[in-house]
Amino acid sequence: MAAITTSIPASTPQLRPLNIMRDLPAVADLVEKCFASTMDPEGRRYLQQMRDAGRDNSFLRWADRAVDTVSMPLSGFVWEEDREIIGNVSLIPYHHHRQRIYLIANVAVKPEQRRKGIGRALTVAAMQKARAHRGAGIWLHVRDDNPGAIKLYEDLGFVERARRTTWHTNTDRNATSAGSGVTITRRLSRDWPEQEAWLKDLYPGMMSWYHALPWLSFRPGLGPSIYRFFLDYETRQWAARLDGKLAATLSWQPVHGQSDRLWVGFPPGGSERALMALLVNARRSLAGRTSLVLDFPAGLATATLAAAGLSPRRTLLWMEAVETSGGA
Ligand SMILES: CC(C)(COP(=O)(O)OP(=O)(O)OC[C@H]1O[C@@H](n2cnc3c(N)ncnc32)[C@H](O)[C@@H]1OP(=O)(O)O)[C@@H](O)C(=O)NCCC(=O)NCCS
Repeated sequence: MAAITTSIPASTPQLRPLNIMRDLPAVADLVEKCFASTMDPEGRRYLQQMRDAGRDNSFLRWADRAVDTVSMPLSGFVWEEDREIIGNVSLIPYHHHRQRIYLIANVAVKPEQRRKGIGRALTVAAMQKARAHRGAGIWLHVRDDNPGAIKLYEDLGFVERARRTTWHTNTDRNATSAGSGVTITRRLSRDWPEQEAWLKDLYPGMMSWYHALPWLSFRPGLGPSIYRFFLDYETRQWAARLDGKLAATLSWQPVHGQSDRLWVGFPPGGSERALMALLVNARRSLAGRTSLVLDFPAGLATATLAAAGLSPRRTLLWMEAVETSGGA
């Protein structure tokens, strides 16, 4: 890899901090233009929030004071030329185990202005700010089909930590599978030790600052049941058994305003027949819910997930900035 230079020229008057009182509508337009071909419903919802926020004065006054404490894209940098915003980066803080982790997002440069170093300068500015605020980690997510951006981030010292595919499906009361020999029951208390180990493997702790697995909702026992009852937390869990032996688990949790989430527990090299039977069973049992989403390690059981009626929506690299000797 080429030498990592994480500094920006001293004189770059075009680069300035995002002014949320003023910039949000222009940033929303830029982000929409740059991500149009890959934007999913969640992305469109997020853009709408940005536009609504840009119109709401009371929100802006509050947000102006809360920029570094709230997990929303309220802070970042823009590149402005002739009063036009042509580049943007958002810096989003996440609070996790008393530490602050920063997510760099919405790196976008107007198509006609690319390959002039603007994307790089914006990303470096965001990294410098995260380091100045003593962020315990700096992360970003980039699609696997975006080699230009991946190269940009690698050159700045980001390394790939995980590669995850988001799968979507609908529910279907007629869904069937030829999962012969697989018995599906509700998840039993005694299934928990194996299920917990499988979940920890498939949803590693290093991702939990962003995607916290709802452990308390899934754990058996009186304490977690009381917790679920009082918080009105709805979950359903199933177990698949082969010859009486636990082979895979599936947990379901609705998420307000978003697609319901599925969480698979599955051992390395486990029976994909069991996994398929569980997914098809969930699509049938949850008929009436609109859509289900599963975040899963890229490349794992892809044919089985597709055969169960799931479609891959996108694959993201999770990249983390590593400290460099001449770091920002
Ligand atoms: C990715 C993006 C922000 C890059 O912005 P940019 O201003 O063109 O990037 P830079 O000019 O600073 O590029 C720095 C380096 O990154 C790499 N790079 C950037 N775009 C590249 C491309 N399309 N192909 C290959 N390498 C690329 C190169 O190494 C480049 O250095 P070089 O021009 O000296 O070869 C811009 O292409 C964009 O807005 N894309 C659409 C939105 C997007 O995908 N954002 C990333 C989301 S994670």
